[in-house]
Amino acid sequence: MEDRKARRKAFLDEFIKDLEEEIFSQFDQKLDEESAQSIRQTIRERVLRDFQDETGELINRLKKSVTKEIASKVTRDEKLKKKAEEEEFQRFNLHFRIQHIMIFTSVIILILTGLPLKFPDLPTSTGFVSIIGGIKSSRLLHRIGAVILIAAMAYHVIYSILHREGRRDLILLIPRPRDFLNLIQNIKYFLGFSHEKARFGRFSYIEKFDYWAVYWGCVVMIGTGAILWFENLFLNIFPKYMFDISKEAHSDEALLATLAIVIWHFYNVHLNPDIFPMSWTWWTGKISKEEMIEHHPLEYEETTAENAKDDAM
Ligand code: HEM
Repeated sequence: MEDRKARRKAFLDEFIKDLEEEIFSQFDQKLDEESAQSIRQTIRERVLRDFQDETGELINRLKKSVTKEIASKVTRDEKLKKKAEEEEFQRFNLHFRIQHIMIFTSVIILILTGLPLKFPDLPTSTGFVSIIGGIKSSRLLHRIGAVILIAAMAYHVIYSILHREGRRDLILLIPRPRDFLNLIQNIKYFLGFSHEKARFGRFSYIEKFDYWAVYWGCVVMIGTGAILWFENLFLNIFPKYMFDISKEAHSDEALLATLAIVIWHFYNVHLNPDIFPMSWTWWTGKISKEEMIEHHPLEYEETTAENAKDDAM
């Protein structure tokens, strides 16, 4: 503030000095010191008065117009933001997102703690196990991961039965002949025999495959894992070869699940150039209008037609 005042004063002093010189240069004869001093005083007073009046007005005018401009920009930005939000589609509700978070957290723990049991001699296995405090901790963590996965599965099954959107999605996820036709259409498209890609509704055949692969994987892993966990109880009732089969199935399905997640799922949700480095849908549950039109055109048309009907009512 002090700085600004000093700068303004220096500017005005300079300005007044120039003005004085200009005025005095118009007179040929030299003025006596007293008259010159009085004229200087008058110039100074006038300049200061006029400057204050006019700059005050100028500043007010500037303030008003700039404030108006900023206000209109803010409303424009708000409108654009609102429009962009309106153009987003809620794909997954909170229940679904919580289930997904529980599943991926548990599966990461289960893979990290399970694979060292399958490949105990690998340096990565011994390294990881020693970091987490030895084989005992690894086994304990594996069981904690298993409990989270079982809870997620139970949550999902109850949600799919009791929640309206859960029931709707479960029905829409059932494979239909249309999925097979879509697959053929896409093969034709990718081979260049057709110009049109398959048009999907809420779930494409890829998403349906992904969903049922995880569903089946969880059933197998939980079933066989429980047998391994309660070995003695199981062997009291069933023959040993059934236990061995369960162990083999658990171990092989674990490897299959790991590869499917690393190769298939990671490509779809992280490495795919359209999405890289990550799709945030798992967190927000939302997808953009463009994604909706590109990946779920039939659902987009259905939703917009429904919204238009609601607006008309
Ligand atoms: C994505 C899920 C899972 C993965 C990737 C996974 C992975 C594995 C692997 C690789 C092994 C070692 C098998 C071997 O020695 O060849 C294992 C062992 C085991 N798993 Fe899992 N598992 C999963 C889920 C579960 C679940 C849900 C349970 C329990 C209900 C479970 C309980 C066990 C038990 C008790 C063992 C034996 C561990 C021990 O020797 O202490 N697992 N798991």
